Amino acid sequence: MPILRAGLVGCGHNGLAHARCYQRDARTELAAVCDLNEERRNRAAADLGATAYPTVAAMLEAADLDIVTVNTSDPFHVEPFVEACRAGCHVFVEKPMADSIAGLEAMVEAARANSGRQTLVGHILRFNPFFARVKELCESGALGELFYLEADYIHSLFVQAAAERFNPALGMNWYTAREQPCIGGGIHPFDLLRWFAGANAVEVAGFDNRIAFPEMQCPDCQVFLARFETGAVAKVASAYGPVGPRPPVNHLSVYGTRGTVRDTDLWLGEGHDAEHQSLAELPLEGHPYEPEVDHFLTCILQDRPTISDAVDGANSAAACVRGAEAARLGKTLSVPQFAW
Ligand SMILES: NC(=O)c1ccc[n+]([C@@H]2O[C@H](COP(=O)([O-])OP(=O)(O)OC[C@H]3O[C@@H](n4cnc5c(N)ncnc54)[C@H](O)[C@@H]3O)[C@@H](O)[C@H]2O)c1
Repeated sequence: MPILRAGLVGCGHNGLAHARCYQRDARTELAAVCDLNEERRNRAAADLGATAYPTVAAMLEAADLDIVTVNTSDPFHVEPFVEACRAGCHVFVEKPMADSIAGLEAMVEAARANSGRQTLVGHILRFNPFFARVKELCESGALGELFYLEADYIHSLFVQAAAERFNPALGMNWYTAREQPCIGGGIHPFDLLRWFAGANAVEVAGFDNRIAFPEMQCPDCQVFLARFETGAVAKVASAYGPVGPRPPVNHLSVYGTRGTVRDTDLWLGEGHDAEHQSLAELPLEGHPYEPEVDHFLTCILQDRPTISDAVDGANSAAACVRGAEAARLGKTLSVPQFAW
């Protein structure tokens, strides 16, 4: 079997975690790394035994890659993804796929023009066994017809404002300058809810504030409601300045006509007579990078679609982007729909 050559764009903590998966996998060679930050790309190249490039264009020109993994900071996913598609590579991109509708449109168009190559958007919680079990319960019909879902991203992220997080290559600390909680963090729970609902959000409304983490330029607390095309309703709260630990399993609740999942509890039946089961024995936390990369490679080699391709990822991101906008404007907004 020919070994696939992989290249990393974005040598931060997250990119290095992905790069090590490609390095360990016998099906791939981690051949190239790229970062606008010279110190980061040289350190990564030395650690991983790969060749360093200053730009995506230089890497694509010289490294003869099959796979590109885009792990740049949240506001900078679009350009490397589009360039890698144009070069005919299979492309992974971290969540959120993009932080604007225009960015999502450009990425979907590039993926369409690169047919025959796989794309995967890093909705890593789909690889968590607990959330995968909830998906099975939804998909099998065990919960009946879903009518209300909620999940949150409540995470104390004051560490992101530390002086050393300023990236001279970008001229900013992207977290304090550009991050929006309901897009960067809230996409994790929203994507789960959209996956469980098996449907797109068509309309969103919300509220926000900037009270707990004023170093952030954008609101640090954003809450939005979404209406799915099935009629089910969802709520996602995202906040980066709370006191105390993260709520377990993202505060998940899924309500259907025949069952309820609330945190790690499951009830099946009717009203107060429902039977209780616990799902707490399943692995609940962590970042399953290894299964995510394994899934991507398996789909590439078997020529089958991934669990969250560019169109699927765009439909999750579009609702979060519009959710942030709806909260800022105090208006109900429609959500653009993407299709192949
Ligand atoms: N799936 C998860 O659970 C998870 C966890 C952490 C981070 N992430 C995501 O991973 C991504 C990276 O996060 P991080 O914390 O490593 O970020 P980071 O900012 O520490 O690292 C990103 C790197 O990308 C580089 N970069 C930015 N634009 C570039 C460009 N156009 N070309 C080349 N290099 C460029 C920056 O210089 C930086 O070194 C983010 O999108 C983040 O949301 C996902």
